[in-house]
Amino acid sequence: MLIKSLELKSFRNYENLSVAFTEGTNILFGDNAQGKTNILEAVYVSGTTKSHKGSKDRDMIQFEKEESHIRTLVEKNEQEFQIDVHLKKNRSKGIAVNRIPIKKASSLFGILNIVFFSPEDLNIIKNGPSQRRRFLDLELCQLDKIYLSDLANYNKILNQRNKLLKDIVFRRELLDTLSVWDMQLVEYGQRIICRRSAFLEELGEIVYNIHKNISGNREELILTYEPNTSAEQFETELAAAREKDLKYCQTSVGPHRDDLLFQIGDADIRKFGSQGQQRTSALSLKMSEIQMVKKLIHDTPVLLLDDVLSELDSSRQNYLLASIHDIQTIITCTGLDEFVKNRFRIDRVFEVRNGQVELK
Ligand SMILES: Nc1ncnc2c1ncn2[C@@H]1O[C@H](COP(=O)(O)OP(=O)(O)O)[C@@H](O)[C@H]1O
Ligand SMILES: [Mg+2]
Repeated sequence: MLIKSLELKSFRNYENLSVAFTEGTNILFGDNAQGKTNILEAVYVSGTTKSHKGSKDRDMIQFEKEESHIRTLVEKNEQEFQIDVHLKKNRSKGIAVNRIPIKKASSLFGILNIVFFSPEDLNIIKNGPSQRRRFLDLELCQLDKIYLSDLANYNKILNQRNKLLKDIVFRRELLDTLSVWDMQLVEYGQRIICRRSAFLEELGEIVYNIHKNISGNREELILTYEPNTSAEQFETELAAAREKDLKYCQTSVGPHRDDLLFQIGDADIRKFGSQGQQRTSALSLKMSEIQMVKKLIHDTPVLLLDDVLSELDSSRQNYLLASIHDIQTIITCTGLDEFVKNRFRIDRVFEVRNGQVELK
């Protein structure tokens, strides 16, 4: 798939913007705070309806404006799709594909798959489990409509259950209703656990090979799913934890407590890896994400690299750049030196300055 163009109206620091991207590598360069990441964010919203950094719709609308428009032209299998996203300050957003409004975010699925890579992703191994779950969920939600809806339902029920646990403190009679929530939590939770497990098994194989390559055959990276409970045990364990949950007013068992385990040799590198191992493994993980998407959608995703190259040493830069030659990439950076240095093929270059983008 290919993003042909992006138009913005009152989005972040862009009053009006129109850019035409090309196949291959597109570079956006410019000083800090000029609007480079904002462009990638708008692209991400077009593909997923959400900001990559979790910003609220109203925060993406230009200061002092009421609404904002993003129009993206995508080419996929020789077909064109125009995705229009209309962000509104106090109401939910409107989305249209080829001018036909869609009701559910999931109708957008499969038109524009995005892999977003930012410097924070390099900390995914050393940071807490919630970041690793977020990685898993963001990817699975782009690839699997059923997962998206199961996860939304699970989170909704989890919140309601937690609220109920608090209410029971004051109204003991509500205890009878708890099992109704438990039943639903288990139902959705089991589906989430099974999907995560299957996905990570496949991803684990890819990560292993990529990491072996990046590390020059020196390291074997093993990624495994570390579920808080299994699909089979969830119901029993949830029941067994009921007293504890009532005491602490929160749900202590379930996939909302899952994690991913990364091992090199016998060492759990989340805790015992060197900084270098953790960052290289994170790079391997992001690169396997690209492979995994390719495999599942039988097409290439669009890769967004936000200021990430300057974080990598030159051999890792080379590895990354060499392995993305066949997919459309939009790269942001502050200078062009790193590309000149690596004599990397660049297809289009833009300079971003204070909410204006100029083709170079
Ligand atoms: N809602 C908004 N309205 C107007 N400007 C915004 C909004 N949100 C962020 N900005 C501005 O966008 C700029 C940051 O853009 P960003 O894309 O993060 O820069 P960079 O080029 O460093 O990636 C800042 O100047 C910030 O004030
Ligand atoms: Mg930025």
